Amino acid sequence: PAPETVATADEFVAVGSVAELDQKGFLLNKVADTEVIVVRNPQSTETLVALNASCTHNGCKVEWKGEASEFSCPCHGAKFALDGEVTNAPATEPLATYSAKIEGTQVLVSV
Ligand code: FES
Repeated sequence: PAPETVATADEFVAVGSVAELDQKGFLLNKVADTEVIVVRNPQSTETLVALNASCTHNGCKVEWKGEASEFSCPCHGAKFALDGEVTNAPATEPLATYSAKIEGTQVLVSV
């Protein structure tokens, strides 16, 4: 079997390429057991924003809405700001945020 990628604290793991990020506008990938969504910070596009993609209401994957600079849950309409804070019910808890960076052609996240 192929060796597993296991992320430990403070360890950055590649979640996709910069080209894919810029083509799709986001990256959605698993780091360890955590679904992570990564976007460029609209206020400073050289920096990245990485959040736990599982909605705190009931676990659906949130979607990035670039034109509104917010994350939106397709299941029941919860919305989250770039910092993970809830801006629309029914979610009440924020999404966790993670460190992310670009290294060469790859996007790395530490959960
Ligand atoms: Fe996201 Fe219900 S699971 S709003």
